[in-house]
Amino acid sequence: MTPLTETSRPPGQHLVADIDDGLRKYVDFGPGCPSHLAAAIQHSLLAPGKRLRPLLVLLTARACECPVEQALPAACAVEMIHAYSLIHDDLPAMDDDEIRRGLPTCHVAYGEATAILAADALQPVAFQVLAESQTISDQKRVLLVQRISAACGSLGMTGGQCIDLASEGHRLSEDDLKNMFDMKTGALIHASVMSACDLCDDLSPEQHSAMDNFGRAVGLAFQIRDDILDIEGETDVIGKNAGSDERLKKATWPALFGLEASRQRCDELLGAAIRSLGTFGPRSARRGPRVSRTLPSPDHLPSQVHQSLPPHAGKRRHPDWHTFSVHRCGAVKPGHAADGASDASRESPANSRSPGWYR
Ligand code: IPE
Ligand code: IPE
Ligand code: MG
Ligand code: MG
Ligand code: MG
Repeated sequence: MTPLTETSRPPGQHLVADIDDGLRKYVDFGPGCPSHLAAAIQHSLLAPGKRLRPLLVLLTARACECPVEQALPAACAVEMIHAYSLIHDDLPAMDDDEIRRGLPTCHVAYGEATAILAADALQPVAFQVLAESQTISDQKRVLLVQRISAACGSLGMTGGQCIDLASEGHRLSEDDLKNMFDMKTGALIHASVMSACDLCDDLSPEQHSAMDNFGRAVGLAFQIRDDILDIEGETDVIGKNAGSDERLKKATWPALFGLEASRQRCDELLGAAIRSLGTFGPRSARRGPRVSRTLPSPDHLPSQVHQSLPPHAGKRRHPDWHTFSVHRCGAVKPGHAADGASDASRESPANSRSPGWYR
Protein backbone atom coordinates (compact mmCIF):
# COMPACT_ATOMS: atom_id res chain seq x y z
CA MET A 1 0.00 0.00 0.00
CA THR A 2 1.29 3.45 -0.80
CA PRO A 3 1.68 5.68 2.24
CA LEU A 4 -1.47 7.57 3.15
CA THR A 5 -0.02 11.02 2.82
CA GLU A 6 -1.38 14.54 2.97
CA THR A 7 -0.01 15.34 -0.46
CA SER A 8 -2.66 13.94 -2.72
CA ARG A 9 -3.22 16.15 -5.77
CA PRO A 10 -5.71 15.99 -7.34
CA PRO A 11 -7.74 15.42 -4.18
CA GLY A 12 -8.18 11.81 -3.32
CA GLN A 13 -5.89 10.46 -6.03
CA HIS A 14 -3.61 8.49 -3.72
CA LEU A 15 -6.48 7.58 -1.48
CA VAL A 16 -8.39 5.95 -4.34
CA ALA A 17 -5.37 3.77 -5.02
CA ASP A 18 -5.23 2.83 -1.32
CA ILE A 19 -8.94 2.06 -1.29
CA ASP A 20 -8.63 -0.09 -4.41
CA ASP A 21 -5.63 -1.94 -2.94
CA GLY A 22 -7.63 -2.60 0.22
CA LEU A 23 -10.68 -3.80 -1.70
CA ARG A 24 -8.59 -6.12 -3.88
CA LYS A 25 -6.98 -7.65 -0.81
CA TYR A 26 -10.27 -8.21 0.98
CA VAL A 27 -11.88 -10.03 -1.94
CA ASP A 28 -8.93 -12.25 -2.71
CA PHE A 29 -10.70 -15.27 -1.24
CA GLY A 30 -8.29 -17.95 -2.34
CA PRO A 31 -9.13 -21.40 -3.62
CA GLY A 32 -11.89 -22.08 -1.06
CA CYS A 33 -14.31 -19.73 -2.79
CA PRO A 34 -16.00 -20.92 -6.00
CA SER A 35 -14.16 -19.10 -8.77
CA HIS A 36 -17.38 -18.01 -10.49
CA LEU A 37 -18.56 -16.34 -7.28
CA ALA A 38 -15.20 -14.66 -6.65
CA ALA A 39 -15.12 -13.39 -10.23
CA ALA A 40 -18.63 -11.94 -9.93
CA ILE A 41 -17.76 -10.18 -6.66
CA GLN A 42 -14.54 -8.78 -8.10
CA HIS A 43 -16.28 -7.73 -11.32
CA SER A 44 -18.70 -5.50 -9.41
CA LEU A 45 -16.58 -4.32 -6.51
CA LEU A 46 -13.37 -3.54 -8.37
CA ALA A 47 -15.06 -1.93 -11.39
CA PRO A 48 -14.16 1.75 -11.72
CA GLY A 49 -16.73 3.46 -9.52
CA LYS A 50 -16.16 6.93 -8.17
CA ARG A 51 -15.37 5.59 -4.66
CA LEU A 52 -17.28 8.50 -3.22
CA ARG A 53 -18.23 6.82 0.03
CA PRO A 54 -14.78 5.46 0.97
CA LEU A 55 -13.24 8.79 -0.01
CA LEU A 56 -15.64 10.50 2.35
CA VAL A 57 -14.55 8.15 5.13
CA LEU A 58 -10.85 8.77 4.56
CA LEU A 59 -11.04 12.49 3.94
CA THR A 60 -13.30 13.01 6.93
CA ALA A 61 -10.84 11.02 9.02
CA ARG A 62 -8.06 13.21 7.75
CA ALA A 63 -10.06 16.35 8.50
CA CYS A 64 -10.65 15.07 12.03
CA GLU A 65 -6.96 14.33 12.45
CA CYS A 66 -7.60 10.63 12.79
CA PRO A 67 -4.87 8.55 11.12
CA VAL A 68 -6.38 7.53 7.80
CA GLU A 69 -4.89 4.03 8.14
CA GLN A 70 -7.37 3.48 10.98
CA ALA A 71 -10.23 4.46 8.69
CA LEU A 72 -9.31 2.28 5.72
CA PRO A 73 -11.27 -0.81 6.89
CA ALA A 74 -14.40 1.32 7.32
CA ALA A 75 -13.79 2.90 3.92
CA CYS A 76 -13.57 -0.52 2.27
CA ALA A 77 -16.59 -1.78 4.21
CA VAL A 78 -18.89 1.03 3.02
CA GLU A 79 -17.76 0.50 -0.57
CA MET A 80 -18.57 -3.22 -0.26
CA ILE A 81 -22.03 -2.43 1.06
CA HIS A 82 -22.50 0.07 -1.76
CA ALA A 83 -21.34 -2.46 -4.37
CA TYR A 84 -23.75 -5.06 -3.04
CA SER A 85 -26.57 -2.51 -3.20
CA LEU A 86 -25.73 -1.75 -6.84
CA ILE A 87 -25.77 -5.43 -7.81
CA HIS A 88 -29.24 -5.80 -6.31
CA ASP A 89 -30.42 -2.46 -7.67
CA ASP A 90 -29.61 -3.60 -11.22
CA LEU A 91 -31.35 -6.98 -11.01
CA PRO A 92 -34.36 -7.63 -13.26
CA ALA A 93 -36.59 -7.66 -10.19
CA MET A 94 -35.44 -4.16 -9.29
CA ASP A 95 -34.25 -1.61 -11.89
CA ASP A 96 -33.38 -4.16 -14.54
CA ASP A 97 -30.27 -2.41 -15.80
CA GLU A 98 -27.58 -3.85 -18.03
CA ILE A 99 -24.67 -1.46 -17.66
CA ARG A 100 -22.93 -0.39 -14.47
CA ARG A 101 -19.63 1.44 -14.15
CA GLY A 102 -19.19 1.06 -17.90
CA LEU A 103 -19.39 -2.73 -17.70
CA PRO A 104 -22.17 -5.29 -18.03
CA THR A 105 -24.08 -5.51 -14.75
CA CYS A 106 -23.27 -8.45 -12.53
CA HIS A 107 -26.32 -10.49 -13.53
CA VAL A 108 -25.67 -9.88 -17.23
CA ALA A 109 -22.06 -11.01 -16.89
CA TYR A 110 -22.51 -13.88 -14.43
CA GLY A 111 -26.20 -14.79 -14.38
CA GLU A 112 -28.89 -13.74 -11.96
CA ALA A 113 -28.33 -16.40 -9.32
CA THR A 114 -24.60 -15.73 -9.08
CA ALA A 115 -25.23 -11.97 -8.95
CA ILE A 116 -27.60 -12.42 -6.01
CA LEU A 117 -25.01 -14.58 -4.28
CA ALA A 118 -22.18 -12.15 -5.03
CA ALA A 119 -24.18 -9.37 -3.32
CA ASP A 120 -25.06 -11.76 -0.49
CA ALA A 121 -21.37 -12.44 0.02
CA LEU A 122 -20.27 -8.81 -0.11
CA GLN A 123 -22.42 -7.80 2.82
CA PRO A 124 -20.91 -10.14 5.44
CA VAL A 125 -17.41 -9.52 4.10
CA ALA A 126 -17.93 -5.83 4.87
CA PHE A 127 -18.74 -6.58 8.49
CA GLN A 128 -15.96 -9.14 8.72
CA VAL A 129 -13.51 -6.46 7.60
CA LEU A 130 -14.75 -4.21 10.40
CA ALA A 131 -14.76 -6.98 13.00
CA GLU A 132 -11.24 -8.07 12.14
CA SER A 133 -9.72 -4.62 11.81
CA GLN A 134 -6.43 -4.62 13.68
CA THR A 135 -6.00 -0.87 13.70
CA ILE A 136 -8.89 0.13 15.98
CA SER A 137 -10.12 -0.69 19.47
CA ASP A 138 -12.86 -3.23 20.20
CA GLN A 139 -15.18 -0.43 21.25
CA LYS A 140 -14.73 1.43 17.98
CA ARG A 141 -15.23 -1.73 15.95
CA VAL A 142 -18.61 -2.17 17.63
CA LEU A 143 -19.49 1.48 16.96
CA LEU A 144 -18.67 1.08 13.28
CA VAL A 145 -20.68 -2.13 12.96
CA GLN A 146 -23.64 -0.39 14.58
CA ARG A 147 -23.27 2.70 12.42
CA ILE A 148 -22.95 0.92 9.08
CA SER A 149 -25.49 -1.82 9.75
CA ALA A 150 -28.08 0.79 10.77
CA ALA A 151 -27.41 2.73 7.57
CA CYS A 152 -27.85 -0.21 5.23
CA GLY A 153 -30.74 -1.97 6.99
CA SER A 154 -34.49 -1.71 6.90
CA LEU A 155 -34.51 1.80 8.39
CA GLY A 156 -31.83 2.88 5.92
CA MET A 157 -30.75 1.83 2.46
CA THR A 158 -32.76 -1.39 2.18
CA GLY A 159 -35.91 0.28 3.45
CA GLY A 160 -35.37 3.16 1.04
CA GLN A 161 -34.96 0.77 -1.87
CA CYS A 162 -38.22 -0.89 -0.88
CA ILE A 163 -40.01 2.49 -0.89
CA ASP A 164 -38.38 3.33 -4.24
CA LEU A 165 -39.82 0.21 -5.86
CA ALA A 166 -43.24 0.70 -4.32
CA SER A 167 -43.28 4.31 -5.54
CA GLU A 168 -42.89 3.53 -9.24
CA GLY A 169 -45.73 5.19 -11.11
CA HIS A 170 -46.72 7.28 -8.08
CA ARG A 171 -46.36 10.96 -7.31
CA LEU A 172 -44.89 11.35 -3.82
CA SER A 173 -45.07 14.40 -1.61
CA GLU A 174 -41.81 16.29 -1.18
CA ASP A 175 -41.46 14.96 2.37
CA ASP A 176 -41.96 11.38 1.26
CA LEU A 177 -39.58 11.72 -1.67
CA LYS A 178 -36.94 13.26 0.54
CA ASN A 179 -37.42 10.56 3.12
CA MET A 180 -36.94 7.92 0.44
CA PHE A 181 -33.73 9.60 -0.77
CA ASP A 182 -32.45 9.98 2.79
CA MET A 183 -32.95 6.29 3.32
CA LYS A 184 -31.89 4.70 0.03
CA THR A 185 -28.85 6.89 -0.63
CA GLY A 186 -28.33 9.42 2.13
CA ALA A 187 -28.01 6.83 4.88
CA LEU A 188 -24.81 5.24 3.62
CA ILE A 189 -23.24 8.55 2.59
CA HIS A 190 -24.01 10.00 6.02
CA ALA A 191 -22.64 6.86 7.68
CA SER A 192 -19.44 7.19 5.65
CA VAL A 193 -18.81 10.64 7.08
CA MET A 194 -19.89 9.70 10.59
CA SER A 195 -17.85 6.47 10.66
CA ALA A 196 -14.74 8.59 10.49
CA CYS A 197 -16.10 10.73 13.32
CA ASP A 198 -16.66 7.56 15.35
CA LEU A 199 -12.96 6.86 15.05
CA CYS A 200 -11.97 10.24 16.32
CA ASP A 201 -11.56 10.69 20.08
CA ASP A 202 -11.69 14.42 20.49
CA LEU A 203 -14.45 15.84 18.29
CA SER A 204 -16.46 18.53 20.06
CA PRO A 205 -20.28 18.33 19.93
CA GLU A 206 -20.19 21.27 17.47
CA GLN A 207 -17.74 19.50 15.19
CA HIS A 208 -19.78 16.32 15.37
CA SER A 209 -22.91 18.23 14.47
CA ALA A 210 -21.15 20.01 11.58
CA MET A 211 -20.13 16.67 10.08
CA ASP A 212 -23.60 15.29 10.71
CA ASN A 213 -25.17 18.17 8.76
CA PHE A 214 -22.57 17.85 6.02
CA GLY A 215 -23.24 14.12 5.60
CA ARG A 216 -27.00 14.54 5.46
CA ALA A 217 -26.93 17.39 2.98
CA VAL A 218 -24.44 15.63 0.68
CA GLY A 219 -26.50 12.43 0.81
CA LEU A 220 -29.66 14.15 -0.37
CA ALA A 221 -27.86 16.26 -2.95
CA PHE A 222 -26.18 13.15 -4.33
CA GLN A 223 -29.43 11.37 -5.14
CA ILE A 224 -30.94 14.52 -6.67
CA ARG A 225 -27.85 14.85 -8.83
CA ASP A 226 -28.08 11.17 -9.76
CA ASP A 227 -31.68 11.73 -10.88
CA ILE A 228 -30.61 14.71 -12.99
CA LEU A 229 -27.86 12.67 -14.61
CA ASP A 230 -30.33 9.95 -15.46
CA ILE A 231 -32.02 12.54 -17.70
CA GLU A 232 -29.09 14.62 -18.91
CA GLY A 233 -26.21 12.15 -18.78
CA GLU A 234 -24.91 10.07 -21.63
CA THR A 235 -24.63 6.38 -21.01
CA ASP A 236 -20.98 6.21 -22.02
CA VAL A 237 -20.23 9.12 -19.71
CA ILE A 238 -22.12 8.04 -16.58
CA GLY A 239 -21.31 4.36 -17.07
CA LYS A 240 -24.93 3.24 -16.74
CA ASN A 241 -28.03 3.43 -18.90
CA ALA A 242 -29.47 6.93 -18.99
CA GLY A 243 -33.28 7.16 -19.08
CA SER A 244 -33.75 4.27 -16.68
CA ASP A 245 -35.89 6.33 -14.29
CA GLU A 246 -38.34 7.45 -16.96
CA ARG A 247 -38.62 3.92 -18.30
CA LEU A 248 -39.59 2.70 -14.84
CA LYS A 249 -41.69 5.75 -13.93
CA LYS A 250 -39.54 6.25 -10.86
CA ALA A 251 -40.37 8.87 -8.28
CA THR A 252 -37.48 11.30 -8.80
CA TRP A 253 -36.70 14.87 -7.89
CA PRO A 254 -36.86 16.13 -11.50
CA ALA A 255 -40.13 14.26 -12.06
CA LEU A 256 -41.66 16.13 -9.14
CA PHE A 257 -40.00 19.54 -9.45
CA GLY A 258 -38.46 19.73 -12.92
CA LEU A 259 -34.81 19.88 -13.93
CA GLU A 260 -34.10 23.50 -13.11
CA ALA A 261 -35.51 23.35 -9.61
CA SER A 262 -33.62 20.09 -9.06
CA ARG A 263 -30.34 21.69 -10.09
CA GLN A 264 -31.05 24.59 -7.78
CA ARG A 265 -31.92 22.36 -4.83
CA CYS A 266 -28.79 20.33 -5.40
CA ASP A 267 -26.65 23.47 -5.44
CA GLU A 268 -28.32 24.81 -2.32
CA LEU A 269 -27.70 21.58 -0.47
CA LEU A 270 -24.08 21.42 -1.56
CA GLY A 271 -23.54 25.04 -0.60
CA ALA A 272 -25.09 24.37 2.79
CA ALA A 273 -22.98 21.24 3.19
CA ILE A 274 -19.81 23.16 2.55
CA ARG A 275 -20.82 26.02 4.80
CA SER A 276 -21.65 23.62 7.60
CA LEU A 277 -17.96 22.74 7.70
CA GLY A 278 -17.29 26.36 8.50
CA THR A 279 -18.63 25.59 11.96
CA PHE A 280 -16.28 22.67 12.36
CA GLY A 281 -14.22 24.58 14.86
CA PRO A 282 -10.80 26.11 14.91
CA ARG A 283 -9.41 23.46 12.60
CA SER A 284 -12.14 23.88 10.05
CA ALA A 285 -10.73 26.67 7.95
CA ARG A 286 -7.60 24.65 7.50
CA ARG A 287 -9.01 21.14 7.29
CA GLY A 288 -12.75 21.22 6.73
CA PRO A 289 -12.67 22.28 3.09
CA ARG A 290 -10.56 19.24 2.28
CA VAL A 291 -13.52 17.06 3.07
CA SER A 292 -15.69 18.96 0.67
CA ARG A 293 -13.04 18.56 -2.00
CA THR A 294 -13.24 14.79 -1.89
CA LEU A 295 -16.06 14.42 -4.34
CA PRO A 296 -14.66 13.66 -7.75
CA SER A 297 -15.12 16.16 -10.53
CA PRO A 298 -13.81 15.92 -14.07
CA ASP A 299 -10.88 18.10 -13.05
CA HIS A 300 -9.97 15.91 -10.13
CA LEU A 301 -10.81 12.54 -11.55
CA PRO A 302 -8.26 10.19 -10.09
CA SER A 303 -5.95 9.08 -12.84
CA GLN A 304 -5.93 5.62 -11.36
CA VAL A 305 -9.63 5.36 -12.21
CA HIS A 306 -8.99 6.69 -15.69
CA GLN A 307 -6.40 4.00 -16.29
CA SER A 308 -8.77 1.28 -15.19
CA LEU A 309 -11.53 2.30 -17.56
CA PRO A 310 -12.39 -0.40 -20.05
CA PRO A 311 -11.57 0.53 -23.65
CA HIS A 312 -15.21 0.73 -24.73
CA ALA A 313 -15.80 3.37 -22.08
CA GLY A 314 -12.91 5.51 -23.23
CA LYS A 315 -14.99 8.69 -23.31
CA ARG A 316 -16.44 8.06 -19.92
CA ARG A 317 -16.30 10.81 -17.35
CA HIS A 318 -17.62 10.78 -13.87
CA PRO A 319 -20.56 12.95 -12.89
CA ASP A 320 -19.77 16.60 -12.72
CA TRP A 321 -19.58 17.39 -9.04
CA HIS A 322 -18.35 20.84 -9.93
CA THR A 323 -19.92 22.46 -6.94
CA PHE A 324 -17.45 20.58 -4.80
CA SER A 325 -14.50 21.90 -6.71
CA VAL A 326 -11.66 23.66 -5.01
CA HIS A 327 -12.87 26.92 -6.55
CA ARG A 328 -16.27 26.66 -5.00
CA CYS A 329 -14.84 25.78 -1.61
CA GLY A 330 -12.38 28.61 -1.91
CA ALA A 331 -15.29 30.97 -2.48
CA VAL A 332 -16.63 30.31 0.99
CA LYS A 333 -15.08 33.09 2.94
CA PRO A 334 -14.15 32.35 6.56
CA GLY A 335 -16.25 35.31 7.69
CA HIS A 336 -19.35 33.60 6.32
CA ALA A 337 -19.10 30.65 8.63
CA ALA A 338 -21.76 31.85 11.06
CA ASP A 339 -24.27 32.51 8.26
CA GLY A 340 -23.34 29.18 6.81
CA ALA A 341 -24.23 27.46 10.03
CA SER A 342 -27.77 28.72 9.97
CA ASP A 343 -28.09 28.00 6.25
CA ALA A 344 -26.80 24.52 6.82
CA SER A 345 -29.27 23.75 9.53
CA ARG A 346 -32.10 25.19 7.45
CA GLU A 347 -31.15 23.08 4.44
CA SER A 348 -30.16 19.99 6.30
CA PRO A 349 -32.31 16.91 6.06
CA ALA A 350 -31.89 16.81 9.83
CA ASN A 351 -34.67 19.34 10.06
CA SER A 352 -37.36 17.11 8.75
CA ARG A 353 -38.18 13.52 9.44
CA SER A 354 -35.30 11.75 11.11
CA PRO A 355 -35.03 8.16 9.97
CA GLY A 356 -33.70 5.47 12.25
CA TRP A 357 -30.24 5.41 10.76
CA TYR A 358 -29.44 8.98 11.92
CA ARG A 359 -27.54 8.17 15.06
C1 IPE B 1 -24.96 5.13 -7.62
O1 IPE B 1 -23.93 5.55 -6.78
C2 IPE B 1 -26.12 4.73 -6.82
C3 IPE B 1 -26.71 5.82 -6.05
C4 IPE B 1 -26.83 5.77 -4.78
C5 IPE B 1 -27.20 7.00 -6.70
P1 IPE B 1 -22.57 6.13 -7.37
O2 IPE B 1 -22.90 7.20 -8.37
O3 IPE B 1 -21.70 6.53 -6.24
O4 IPE B 1 -21.97 4.88 -8.14
P2 IPE B 1 -20.46 4.46 -8.39
O5 IPE B 1 -19.95 3.91 -7.10
O6 IPE B 1 -19.69 5.67 -8.82
O7 IPE B 1 -20.54 3.42 -9.46
C1 IPE C 1 -29.95 3.43 -6.15
O1 IPE C 1 -30.62 4.50 -6.71
C2 IPE C 1 -29.72 3.60 -4.73
C3 IPE C 1 -29.06 2.40 -4.17
C4 IPE C 1 -29.18 2.14 -2.94
C5 IPE C 1 -28.26 1.49 -4.97
P1 IPE C 1 -30.70 4.45 -8.28
O2 IPE C 1 -31.46 3.26 -8.75
O3 IPE C 1 -31.15 5.77 -8.77
O4 IPE C 1 -29.15 4.26 -8.66
P2 IPE C 1 -28.62 4.10 -10.14
O5 IPE C 1 -29.09 5.32 -10.90
O6 IPE C 1 -29.18 2.82 -10.68
O7 IPE C 1 -27.12 4.08 -9.97
MG1 MG D 1 -32.88 1.98 -7.96
MG1 MG E 1 -30.95 1.93 -10.39
MG1 MG F 1 -30.38 6.72 -10.51
